[in-house]
Amino acid sequence: MRISARLEKIPPYLFAEVDRKLAEKKAEGVDVISFGIGDPDIPTPDPVIERLRAEVLNPEHHRYPSYFGLDEFRRSAADWFERRFDVSIEPSSQVLPLMGSKEGVAHIALALLDPGDVALVPEPGYPVYEMGTLLAGAESLFLPLKKENDFLPRLDALPRDEVKRAKVLWINYPNNPTGAVAPDEFFRLAIEFARANDLVLAHDNAYSEITYDGYVAPSVLQFDGAVDVAVEFHSLSKTFNMTGWRVGFACGNEEVIRALGTIKTNIDSGIFNPVQLAAVEALDHESGTVQRMVEIYGARRDRLVSALSGLGWEVEPPKGSIYIWMAVPDGFDSVGFSTHVLERAGVFFTPGNAYGPSGEGYVRISLTVPDERMDEAVSRLKEVF
Ligand SMILES: Cc1ncc(COP(=O)(O)O)c(C=O)c1O
Repeated sequence: MRISARLEKIPPYLFAEVDRKLAEKKAEGVDVISFGIGDPDIPTPDPVIERLRAEVLNPEHHRYPSYFGLDEFRRSAADWFERRFDVSIEPSSQVLPLMGSKEGVAHIALALLDPGDVALVPEPGYPVYEMGTLLAGAESLFLPLKKENDFLPRLDALPRDEVKRAKVLWINYPNNPTGAVAPDEFFRLAIEFARANDLVLAHDNAYSEITYDGYVAPSVLQFDGAVDVAVEFHSLSKTFNMTGWRVGFACGNEEVIRALGTIKTNIDSGIFNPVQLAAVEALDHESGTVQRMVEIYGARRDRLVSALSGLGWEVEPPKGSIYIWMAVPDGFDSVGFSTHVLERAGVFFTPGNAYGPSGEGYVRISLTVPDERMDEAVSRLKEVF
């Protein structure tokens, strides 16, 4: 049997590896407190669950769903988008439901890239931008995100001949893994750069609703001219604590949305209707759940930042996302520190270099751990350090 050459280039999926390592520790009897994967511990809102329960009994929904999603979901997504960002998008041509935004982020590479093409990919970054590019047979040109540049890519410093081969520029703010947010000027610059270089600007806005200290994240589509070049990915996973439900949407430039739709029509057969209707429930009747969730993450952020600073570590509160991006203490590299903390304290932080070489020297700490476990982790760390 021979497996495709393409797969040889793909390393094991980061969190599949993390799961394996943590399972090993648990099998050894260690009570691991994991700040690894960003999978919310806060429950999905009850009305969303109730809507699924009701809809699942309708036999009409047991047949194939529509490839392009229910009109109701597309309309709801567009209405939510307009309420939230004050931008009107056309539900039938500018919104495409996704089986989680990861699915769209991966598949859009097949819609935009051919072998030999280049994608401009931030690093450290969400691994799927690079992996989707690889699966499409294309190459990534990495854009380092450095603290000295506020974790924004230096678009002006990119080699011109490489940029000529590029067809897509990925950006993601609020950012995973750095927790950084981007000023409006950066979005304007990215739109201008995409236009000048004939690129699609793909903005992954999975954490748009999770921001702190009064900061409200924009949509790229709020800025002039964006719809000519940009698509944006939204996810119900983090916004409504629905990671397991697999539902999100892409929106923006019509031609790109259509191209992504063509790929998906040939790969999947749409989202189970009751899940789409539950998503409608979440989007239409938000009623303060997002705000309460952000308050919980914000309180955890402050609690953890103060505890980790108390250990003498250099740690800054993120402005957005559910991650603290912490420089490892002197004398450690990312993997060394992550391993030390796991072995000695049974606490897991993801090594920053797992997200790209510029993540070396950092760990990512997810805020999806409840207070008691967080306090337990801190007291174990105090014993070790
Ligand atoms: C930056 C970013 N984009 C997209 C996703 C995918 O989210 P989902 O597929 O659950 O919508 C994640 C998940 O962690 C993420 O961190």
